[in-house]
Amino acid sequence: MYDDNPTLSGIRKEIDEEKQGEVFFREQTLPEDGGRHFYIESYGCQMNFSDSEIVASILAEVGFSPTREVERADLILINTCSIREKAEETVRKRLRIFDQVKSRRPGTLVGVLGCMAERLKAKLLEEEKLVDLVVGPDAYRDLPALVSTAEEGDKGINVFLSREETYADISPLRLDSNGVTAFISIMRGCDNMCSFCVVPFTRGRERSRNAFSIVAEATDLHRNGYREVTLLGQNVDSYKWENPETGAVVNFAELLEMVAQVDPGLRVRFSTSHPKDITDEVLHTMARHDNICKYIHLPVQSGNSRILELMNRTYDREWYLERVRAIYRILPECAISSDIITGFCSETEDEHQDTLSIMELANYSMSYMFYYSERPGTPAARKLTDDVSMEAKKRRLQDVIRLQNQLSFRHNQADIGKTFEVLIEGDSKRSDEEFKGRNSQNKMIVFPKTPGLKPGEYVRVRVLEATSATLLGVVEK
Ligand code: SAH
Ligand code: SF4
Ligand code: F3S
Repeated sequence: MYDDNPTLSGIRKEIDEEKQGEVFFREQTLPEDGGRHFYIESYGCQMNFSDSEIVASILAEVGFSPTREVERADLILINTCSIREKAEETVRKRLRIFDQVKSRRPGTLVGVLGCMAERLKAKLLEEEKLVDLVVGPDAYRDLPALVSTAEEGDKGINVFLSREETYADISPLRLDSNGVTAFISIMRGCDNMCSFCVVPFTRGRERSRNAFSIVAEATDLHRNGYREVTLLGQNVDSYKWENPETGAVVNFAELLEMVAQVDPGLRVRFSTSHPKDITDEVLHTMARHDNICKYIHLPVQSGNSRILELMNRTYDREWYLERVRAIYRILPECAISSDIITGFCSETEDEHQDTLSIMELANYSMSYMFYYSERPGTPAARKLTDDVSMEAKKRRLQDVIRLQNQLSFRHNQADIGKTFEVLIEGDSKRSDEEFKGRNSQNKMIVFPKTPGLKPGEYVRVRVLEATSATLLGVVEK
């Protein structure tokens, strides 16, 4: 979910918990052009990467073109994440580097966008002297004006959170694109208030984007050769858009169907599903359309009902397991992945064991795994005590990672001998004689190129080998 190769990164990168903040790191590389240049780096969830494409589009309108070389940039932007302390530390380290660039090229502007801008607001300008612009996730339309302010020597700040902004009319400038897969934001914000989570504070209230603008964006992408779209929201199951003209309401299952009908050759994915909200209607819609991928990211966070209650997740262990059973019943081929937090406030060893057992029962194909990091201002920080020692948090995280590695290995081994339809995304990381692509279950498959095949095409691949991270196969004639 957070990387272009989630099966791999979900496990390998997170083994080293010191690198937690980097799990979400991916640098943007962009095509070149003339005039003034901006450079943008994004951290955090897919939502942030998607937002960077909106930012790029807004800046392009006023004559900025993207550069991949920070040294050439007139404007350096960093789209930030606040989800864990490590994520913020990573950003601050990058700001030190940008400071050096700025001292070599006076006049370069540095802007902080996204969740850290929203969380810290003007404090960021005091703490980080080099920063010229602080722009929250709902204020990107104001960027051109804020850049002008900063060019005149003042600091530019706008951290206003909106109840309406969805950037529905902005056509994102696809950054670092493989030309095959793209994200589409379908909603913004979150109303859930999980006690550990900073997102409701950094992203504001939940709001859904005009369904027709979503379908138009998917249609446009398909026309331009894209073959897969991922519908993004913090809780896609609560998508709900009311047509102001007719009063008709579109829910997530209906939206999914609308996007699936754009073209049978356009795959549809979505993220993230919330266990309390995912409906059988969504599962049946997935079953009806071959092009809706059989993969659900359904973060459990903890397998213990008392901890889930403290987390304010609003479901318990039994509810979660019932949803998992419904998925496997309605969609027998579906893969499920998860997010897990270890060492949440007051978690005991026994309660930690419940997380391990739910992982087995749900049979996750992969997971993103973290130890709890207290975030200032969240309900947990205000009302609960962060009392599990760092040593215990890390040990439990290692247990979870070890188990997930075993589950992923077993899950992947079970695919040996099967044939999957794979959408080719490009060359494999290892060799330009191999392609990589994913199957419906979101598993990365690497296979030797055969003449005539190109990225963006579907191909049937038979799996010959499997590690815990990747499937290896051959094209079936
Ligand atoms: N909306 C998504 C989650 C977005 S944040 C959902 O509800 O599932 C991505 C993941 O980061 C979360 O699922 C959680 O596992 C993790 N996370 C969030 N806050 C955290 C914290 N304070 N400490 C550790 N991990 C956290
Ligand atoms: Fe955070 Fe919970 Fe909202 Fe996810 S659903 S973004 S974890 S508050
Ligand atoms: Fe991070 Fe903000 Fe996403 S806190 S995970 S970038 S919504």
